[in-house]
Amino acid sequence: MAGNWKMYKTPADTHAFFEAFKPLVADAKNVDIVLCPPFADLHAAITETANSGIAVGAQNLYWGKEGAVTGEVSGHMLQAIGCQYVIIAHSERRQYFGESEPDVVRKIEAALEYGLTPIVCVGERLEEREEGRTEEVLATMFDGGLAPLAAEQFAKVVIAYEPVWAIGTGKTATPEIAEAAHRFIRGKVAEKFGADAAAAVRILYGGSVKPDNVTKLMSEEDIDGALVGGASLDPKSFAAIVNF
Ligand code: PGA
Repeated sequence: MAGNWKMYKTPADTHAFFEAFKPLVADAKNVDIVLCPPFADLHAAITETANSGIAVGAQNLYWGKEGAVTGEVSGHMLQAIGCQYVIIAHSERRQYFGESEPDVVRKIEAALEYGLTPIVCVGERLEEREEGRTEEVLATMFDGGLAPLAAEQFAKVVIAYEPVWAIGTGKTATPEIAEAAHRFIRGKVAEKFGADAAAAVRILYGGSVKPDNVTKLMSEEDIDGALVGGASLDPKSFAAIVNF
């Protein structure tokens, strides 16, 4: 269960979140919990989660270890500060910052080089769904962003299916719609990396996941977890999702 705070919260807010959140998930079992705050809050989050079993991730990274790349943060730096995960190619990065499939591959490789687990986002926009192009879009993202990886690299990747029309809109994909997309993605994994890789890969659903819809979504066979935006900002609601 991963939370994506996007561009919300200060370090003080981050401390307050974890003070409230940690006791609520202290008994959570058989679930990996990840919070992905903005860069400015990573230190606070990592301090707060020490020895708690809760992992911290970043929301983006730059490929390369260091260099004259003003405004960017490398996987090397994220590893050094204690991050364990990094979100790659969120639809907001694709849409507002023009991230393309070749960038996705470079970022995944950079994450893996520095021991970070990439959470790689794929998903169609509303017009693409309405035009019946969902599978085509997912296939293009898979072929361009994930298929070029070596099998050992792919084995360390988490995929997040996030239909863009469901993000921040309160319009969750129905469990059936989400399951169909997850099944399609798992099929692509099987074709490229084999049945074992397809069975092992974790595919998270993201898009308006809330405490009251998480149970149904998670009951679908191919949905292994969630990438939660808005509902991860509140310790009670994210804890309810983790503990569903
Ligand atoms: P949401 O965001 O839960 O607010 O819809 C999900 C995401 O963008 O990762």
